[in-house]
Amino acid sequence: MKHAPADHLAPVFAQYPVEVASADGVWLLTRGGERVLDLYGGHAVAALGYGHPGWTRALSEQAQLCNFQSNAVPMDVRTRAAERLVQFAGGHFDRVFFVNSGAEANENALRMAFRITKRTHVAAVEYGFHGRTAAAGALTWGALEKWYAFPRTPFDVSFMPRRDVSALAQHITEKTAAVVVEPVQGLAGAFDMGAPYLEALRKRCDEVGALLIFDEVQCGMGRTGHPFAANLYGVKPDMITAAKALGNGFPCAALLTAPKVSAAIKLDALGTTYGGGPMACAAIEAVIDAIESEKLLERVQRVSKYIRETCVVGPVTATQGAGFLLGLRTKRPAKEIHAELLEVGILAGTATDPNILRLLPPFILEEQHVDLLRDALSHLA
Ligand SMILES: Cc1ncc(COP(=O)(O)O)c(C=O)c1O
Repeated sequence: MKHAPADHLAPVFAQYPVEVASADGVWLLTRGGERVLDLYGGHAVAALGYGHPGWTRALSEQAQLCNFQSNAVPMDVRTRAAERLVQFAGGHFDRVFFVNSGAEANENALRMAFRITKRTHVAAVEYGFHGRTAAAGALTWGALEKWYAFPRTPFDVSFMPRRDVSALAQHITEKTAAVVVEPVQGLAGAFDMGAPYLEALRKRCDEVGALLIFDEVQCGMGRTGHPFAANLYGVKPDMITAAKALGNGFPCAALLTAPKVSAAIKLDALGTTYGGGPMACAAIEAVIDAIESEKLLERVQRVSKYIRETCVVGPVTATQGAGFLLGLRTKRPAKEIHAELLEVGILAGTATDPNILRLLPPFILEEQHVDLLRDALSHLA
């Protein structure tokens, strides 16, 4: 597989040695005509895989109807997308603010938390990733040392150890505006926080009057086999941020707010040009339609179980995570396994944990595809 020259692109990404020309279902097709099984979904984005008929139709129909009007103009497709998303999330949230990216959704969640509490501190969790903007980057573990580059962070942040309930009282105090957590950490390697920890976060936030924000940019929108990880763990945050699978590749994100937060959203409190554009909203509606009509949550749960039962072979010693945000723990560097799988036509992902091979497949994945992974892994040491 040959690497394409990308002379004028900013050289900020290490690229895989595979050039995709087209894609279909869970398969990527390279320029050289090879088929690659996609277990990574473009960083968790391609929830419906490629060429999904409902999603493709929704976008082309919306493009013909009206490709863009801003939030200054009411549009039925926007109203519908918000309603569908609120219903999909299970009824705990009553407002949606559409934006363009995960970082921007987190930025706006924080803005609401500061506005409501008038406090200056945020508690985040070690190894978490929340995006590249000044605020989201400030909450991202290791960002300051690696790529942050802004002269200072815009508020005080402290990082809490994962799953350590005993550390909460020290980090979450009357100065804390918000606690931000990925219920299942993505980039860190599909590390799930578990119900007891998330429940303890909820309790501590209530004790001190801080707002609880679930960053479900990677783990949300059905990826855990539940609408959101909040549903899986039975914990109700004050806000959820969603992106990635939300649009199946059409850039979009959303901030969902519970009534207590919604009450503080006033005219001009938040803003965006592209957020909530009709194409994005058509994509969101099509994603929810597909998840519901094709019973994809059930499929994610079933096939995830199958992966966990069958893929602890070869270099894999254990699995972690939830649904289709899975980490396969490897006894040698996951980067090596990643490269070896790609050689035989399987694209997986890696994580900041060097011994985790991360799987973020489209929700349409079937057992027969998992068998290909299992067979490939079983041939590796
Ligand atoms: C959990 C989480 N939050 C936020 C982000 C940032 O999203 P975006 O790249 O759309 O700004 C990501 C991206 O990987 C993510 O995984």
